[in-house]
Amino acid sequence: MVEYYVPKWEEIEEGILDVVEKMVNDDFVPDVIVAILTGGVIPAKLVADALGIRNIKYIDIKFYKGIESRERKPVIKAVYVDNLENKKVLIIDDVADTGETLDAVGNIITMYNPSLIRSATVYVKPWSRKYPDYYYKILDKWIIFPWDKWEVVRENTNAPIDKKEKYFDILRKLRK
Ligand code: PRP
Ligand code: MG
Repeated sequence: MVEYYVPKWEEIEEGILDVVEKMVNDDFVPDVIVAILTGGVIPAKLVADALGIRNIKYIDIKFYKGIESRERKPVIKAVYVDNLENKKVLIIDDVADTGETLDAVGNIITMYNPSLIRSATVYVKPWSRKYPDYYYKILDKWIIFPWDKWEVVRENTNAPIDKKEKYFDILRKLRK
């Protein structure tokens, strides 16, 4: 059975500040942030906010078909990136699980000739083949983020999420 971990917003905010503090202690301030769609968008915005950076690019990539179920490889859907030449780039995602998504995005970004590439995630799984340069916690459970909890509930109505009834009402209307 899948074991879930359900971080609250407060923990996400604490995790973001922890990651940003590690970067600043390391004297690393990026010129550009590359957010990995879709789960990395909110962490990227929170890091950008803390650093006072507005320059955010995006890579749309999808690996997971459902809870603990993957495609053979991450599928790159679109790359919304430009002007990275000689720039310090920070790639941001919510979690590194196998590490394949970070790997694939790192390979794409390398082609744009930045001066430096680093990566950050909020969480990392202990078995990830690639650890981001900056992360908050190592966790071995399936993480239900505030930004994808309804996706999990659609797959498993028993997922440990509060206040599901209102969402079930919405879902019934959506599926009519
Ligand atoms: C999830 C997560 C990371 C990636 C991590 O994204 O947001 O991007 O998987 O897994 P990996 O380390 O094994 O590659 P997903 O593919 O589910 O797309 P999403 O962000 O749009 O939900
Ligand atoms: Mg993702």
